[in-house]
Amino acid sequence: MDAQELREAFVDFFKSRGHAHISSASLIPENDPTVLFTTAGMHPLVPYLLGERHPGGKRLVDFQKCVRTGDIDEVGDATHLTFFEMLGNWSLGDYFKKESIAFSMEFLNTVLNIDRGHLAVTAFEGEDGIPRDDETADIWRSHGMRDDQIFFYGRGDNWWGPAGQTGPCGPDTEIFYDDLRPKCGPDCGPSCRCGKYVEIWNNVFMQYNKTKEGAFEPLKQKNVDTGMGLERALCFVNGAKTVYDTSLFSGIMNKLEELSGKKRTEDVRSFRIIADHLRAATFMLGDGVIPAKIGQGYILRRLIRRASRYLSKIGVDGIVMQNVSEVVISEYSKAYPELERNRDDIFSRIAAEEEKFHKTLGKGLRRFEEMLGENGGASVLNGELVFRLYDTFGFPVELTQELAAEKGYKVDAEDFDKRFREHQDKSRAGSDQVFKGGLADAGEQTTRLHTATHILNAALRNIVDPEIKQKGSNITAERLRFDFNLDRKLTADELERIEEFVNGVINADIPVVCEELAYEEAKNRNAIGVFQDKYGEVVKVYSIGDVSTELCGGPHVKSTGEIGRFRITKEESSAAGVRRIKATVGQ
Ligand code: ALA
Repeated sequence: MDAQELREAFVDFFKSRGHAHISSASLIPENDPTVLFTTAGMHPLVPYLLGERHPGGKRLVDFQKCVRTGDIDEVGDATHLTFFEMLGNWSLGDYFKKESIAFSMEFLNTVLNIDRGHLAVTAFEGEDGIPRDDETADIWRSHGMRDDQIFFYGRGDNWWGPAGQTGPCGPDTEIFYDDLRPKCGPDCGPSCRCGKYVEIWNNVFMQYNKTKEGAFEPLKQKNVDTGMGLERALCFVNGAKTVYDTSLFSGIMNKLEELSGKKRTEDVRSFRIIADHLRAATFMLGDGVIPAKIGQGYILRRLIRRASRYLSKIGVDGIVMQNVSEVVISEYSKAYPELERNRDDIFSRIAAEEEKFHKTLGKGLRRFEEMLGENGGASVLNGELVFRLYDTFGFPVELTQELAAEKGYKVDAEDFDKRFREHQDKSRAGSDQVFKGGLADAGEQTTRLHTATHILNAALRNIVDPEIKQKGSNITAERLRFDFNLDRKLTADELERIEEFVNGVINADIPVVCEELAYEEAKNRNAIGVFQDKYGEVVKVYSIGDVSTELCGGPHVKSTGEIGRFRITKEESSAAGVRRIKATVGQ
């Protein structure tokens, strides 16, 4: 079975058991500003786990692309990946533990052909007033699992979620493959890292919602959320030793061998790092992430730059990443058609970033060697040298840290951070961009989108309803997203008039004036703003002629003409009584 057959086998198994197949959501989480990327299959389903009705019904199945960034520096060993796919099935207030475990057991036995004797499972031991999950253990027993195959653990091992800071979570039962070799010691069990047990599947019984305050509230409905790593499952199916030896990576590895003229066995770690990073980068670019200094774009930049360094290590000199992306696109497009759709963007962006770094990589590496000499024999590299590598040669600090570690040096990260912040302050001071109110992106495009958001807010009140208020806003380098109260869909005519209104203000090139006012004074001027409680005594108010007066931390353009053409790309429901508009500018 290859990866696509496994994806299909999983989906078909659950479809024939009443589950609707939903497509993979974007790697950029829509509903969770607390994390950069979608980290699990359940992540895009948070509103539905909390009780909203899903159009697909109460039983869902999918394969979801995910990125976890915590382990970037571990990538290169046999198990770590930044990008991975998760096979998952869900019950949204429908079936619970009994059916979930029965489905998993049947799938493992009949589709993956893993015999019951090779399984070990875990259940929640009970902690913090939440009881021990004997019910789960009994269900496993009813499927013929012996007591010595069932292990109980506490919150550290047998509790999952939330995916970000808040949201649905609960106790879980994890399913492991046991290679049946003797235990490494008396405490050996599924939580042991000796390698005897490999996790295959996690079934979470989501019954709690973690609040901002850290409390666990019972959910309205009891859900099941499961996740099986596709790469890992494919190891079993392919009889492969590591995820990198599965068919998911063979095309990429072949391409790297062709480009370098080396065999993957000659430098296993470098081959793995390049393969993982460029696969992840291709998917991120396919979802519209653009290399940048912060946020998702910074992670993407780190991946591309780290891959570039390892490419040079295995002797590849040219601009080649596009060739690797091409393999990823051709092998994954059936499952993820957005890759094919965005092929041209992926190619041009990855090549541009590679070229940019390529120009400075060699020089930067030489400078790094010199720096070691200039460091006065100390074992910690001072922040100024690290900052110079960042500023002049575009070395992400993590890359310098890694280079330093290879030579037995550490990096003074605190000193680097200080210099980095000073540098940012200097470059901001000139353009009067003050960062408050949770807005934290200095890119020119996001600045344009911030100002466009104010005009859109005014347009909605002028054209649709003076009672409209902002319910949420989120800006990436690509688009703005604006949520507002309204209990109906906007008509095509209204959307057109809103666009005209906003473009009218843009074409009039009205200066955007920023004033610092006492809170009361701002109120007297009828400034609008939804995040008042975050502001201090003196607030910043941005005015755009008589179109808009709004409390905001900025940043904003100096004059609306800088924004470029405004275009609404989507109007949809966000929650009950709340509509959402997405829009772009400048294209
Ligand atoms: N959400 C669960 C996990 O990621 C299934 O393991």
